[in-house]
Amino acid sequence: MRKLLSTLLIGLTLLTYQTGYAQKQGKATAKVAPITVKTPARPAGQKDVIDLVTPKLETVRVGFIGLGMRGPGAVARFTKIPGTQIVALCDLRPECVDKSQQILKKAGLPEAAAYSGTEDAWKKLCDRDDIDLVYIATDWKHHAEMGVYAMEHGKHVAIEVPAAMTLDEIWKLINTSEKTRKHCMQLENCVYDFFELTTLNMAQQGIFGEVLHVEGAYIHNLEEFWPSYWNNWRMDYNRKHRGDVYATHGIGPACQLLDIHRGDRLKTLVAMDTKAVNGPAYIKSKTGEVVKDFQNGDQTSTLIRTENGKTMLIQHNVMTPRPYSRMYQLTGTDGYASKYPIEEYCLRPSQVASDVTPDHEKLNAHGSVPEEVKKALMDKYKHPIHRELEETAKKVGGHGGMDYIMDYRLVYCLRNGLPLDMDVYDLAEWCSMAELTRISIENNSAAVAIPDFTRGGWNKVKGYKHAFAN
Ligand SMILES: NC(=O)c1ccc[n+]([C@@H]2O[C@H](COP(=O)([O-])OP(=O)(O)OC[C@H]3O[C@@H](n4cnc5c(N)ncnc54)[C@H](O)[C@@H]3O)[C@@H](O)[C@H]2O)c1
Repeated sequence: MRKLLSTLLIGLTLLTYQTGYAQKQGKATAKVAPITVKTPARPAGQKDVIDLVTPKLETVRVGFIGLGMRGPGAVARFTKIPGTQIVALCDLRPECVDKSQQILKKAGLPEAAAYSGTEDAWKKLCDRDDIDLVYIATDWKHHAEMGVYAMEHGKHVAIEVPAAMTLDEIWKLINTSEKTRKHCMQLENCVYDFFELTTLNMAQQGIFGEVLHVEGAYIHNLEEFWPSYWNNWRMDYNRKHRGDVYATHGIGPACQLLDIHRGDRLKTLVAMDTKAVNGPAYIKSKTGEVVKDFQNGDQTSTLIRTENGKTMLIQHNVMTPRPYSRMYQLTGTDGYASKYPIEEYCLRPSQVASDVTPDHEKLNAHGSVPEEVKKALMDKYKHPIHRELEETAKKVGGHGGMDYIMDYRLVYCLRNGLPLDMDVYDLAEWCSMAELTRISIENNSAAVAIPDFTRGGWNKVKGYKHAFAN
């Protein structure tokens, strides 16, 4: 008994000593679990919409909602996409509908049915039975409600970025798409840009080895745009919401490089923001109002780790004068790619030149590949989508052509009964940044677990691919 007691005492002393030592050294004594948010159970009788195929449509009949700065460009692009019919146009403001009618007239197309004047005139557009696709380009707060309603009324939906602002909205879109078996695509155009698709193709062919780390951003000083948004919605949103509220242009192409929910999944994030300086300063300079509780920091940075041990850095900055950048950077075991400020690739010197002699004075040997090597790589790995569409896309335009490719692909897949390039789970993962980063920031940048929006299906498909390849 005495022996047992003394052994216990020694053990206790040792434990106390070790704990004290660990504390003095700043070592954590227990692993800290990430903050988790609730994943609602899939409603009974529902299944996922991974690789959803729907009956082929000979003509895609479209109704547009939201015809401010962005919407009319989409109307104009659709006048040039074969197999489409523009059936209806809707905007709260009648003058916006009229402007888009002019686009149809110029293209020699009949006038579309017009809806405007009331906050919910758009519902009448969705209620029609001669529309297959509702294309939504309103301010952020209307997106999810409109998308859910349109699917409930038998339509596929395409929604501008970000398609949803809260986890609640995201789950509503997922549940509705799963229940109605309708496509719900976010109109993320940046995944179709030329450097991005070429680099994705190179990555998929193993040029960079295993892709370990990717970066994406939305860095765009919006100072000159703020007054142009209808009803000041965008500045208001930033004023009231902390976190990365516009992550999709950066995270979208980054997720495609990492095969997110096609063999890997976003697992944990931590986010941090700077204080808000330029937002409140802008409001003061324009209106004299002193805003003490402006929420969105001038710069927000988010780090994400995936299930397979890859990492991602995402940034948001719409407030300070910086060169426009979506980052689009990739670090692989065998190479590197970066889009901004100049498009470049880096491979091992031995992969580029035949005679490589180590020389500490010649560090440029480890720089990007020479221009002619880059050009040859980009020609060789031009994506099949670009091979087919580049010329027309550049003529039609829309951010240099990527907007046309996005719309064309959406229509092509609907007409051919193929899964869309982006599904509702892409939408969910990319849009979830708004609320999840806020949660992290408001909890001293604590780790937050990212829900599996596929509810178990993230490893079913191996590798991201465009249905085009079929
Ligand atoms: N993908 C891109 O590159 C890109 C570029 C610009 C904008 N966007 C996105 O496009 C969307 C629209 O942005 P924008 O710059 O055109 O904004 P905007 O303010 O110019 O246009 C929004 C339009 O929505 C209309 N609207 C508001 N409530 C409505 C309602 N209840 N019914 C019908 N119409 C309604 C407004 O009248 C306005 O015309 C946003 O989601 C934005 O983030 C994407």
